[in-house]
Amino acid sequence: MNQKIRKCLFPAAGYGTRFLPATKATPKEMLPVLTKPLIQYGVEEALSAGIDTMAIVTGRGKRAIEDHFDRSYELEHQIDGTSKETLMDEIRTIIKTCTFSYTRQIEMKGLGHAILTGETLIGQEPFAVILADDLCDNEHDGVLAQMIELYEKHHCSIVAIEEVPNEDTHKYGVIAGEEIEAGLYRVSDMVEKPDPKDAPTNMAIIGRYILTPDIFEILKMTRPGKGGEIQITDALLEQAKQGNVLAYKFQGQRFDCGSVDGFVSATNYFYNKLTEK
Ligand code: G1P
Repeated sequence: MNQKIRKCLFPAAGYGTRFLPATKATPKEMLPVLTKPLIQYGVEEALSAGIDTMAIVTGRGKRAIEDHFDRSYELEHQIDGTSKETLMDEIRTIIKTCTFSYTRQIEMKGLGHAILTGETLIGQEPFAVILADDLCDNEHDGVLAQMIELYEKHHCSIVAIEEVPNEDTHKYGVIAGEEIEAGLYRVSDMVEKPDPKDAPTNMAIIGRYILTPDIFEILKMTRPGKGGEIQITDALLEQAKQGNVLAYKFQGQRFDCGSVDGFVSATNYFYNKLTEK
């Protein structure tokens, strides 16, 4: 399979209950770190990895995401020729450069199910996945760009990993494998959110994936796992059994913006970066 990665899938149907009441009527993907919503950081990371086709799996109450990636004629008219125009530069470029397609996940049956819901937008080609609440930043290539470079060499599914404290393994999918090059592992086992005592390692999957399209057929056969949900980790384990999954210790900073602590750290980090310039 030697196809280029053209599309990025954003599962964005979750309720964001950890941020209630902020997420009661606002999608969690639209919460801003400084002035930019989380999902826009994700789209910019995909774009900087050479991807211009965004496929977003939404749910009820998520219309603000579609409106964000669309023209707002009234607003454009209001700010035309004012000093505020520069604030719109990035989003204007995104709207001009990318195409967006959407589908809704009707029932919340887990990340694996959300990715399977996106099949209609992706089709039969390898694709990237970004979980927007894992916010990543780099001085050079973004995490997805690093992973695509690896994909072009290895042509199999790839997950991004990071070492976490042992007591945190229950928050992540965790992998085990053999290191084939510095920071690159051929995955032999993966477990969704294991207790620290059952975790094979402390190498945790973070929200960046490259998936080969056979994942869809596997997901259709995958039974509910941890939490009664269909887990992408379980489907990937099937590919891993064939030797077809790599795990990559990415370069860069990552913030878990699905938690209040991580969100505050990200905000401080980006604020310092801005004011240090
Ligand atoms: C999901 C995945 C998990 C992964 C994590 C990364 O969990 O199921 O394997 O480690 O994303 O953020 P969630 O955070 O959606 O519960």
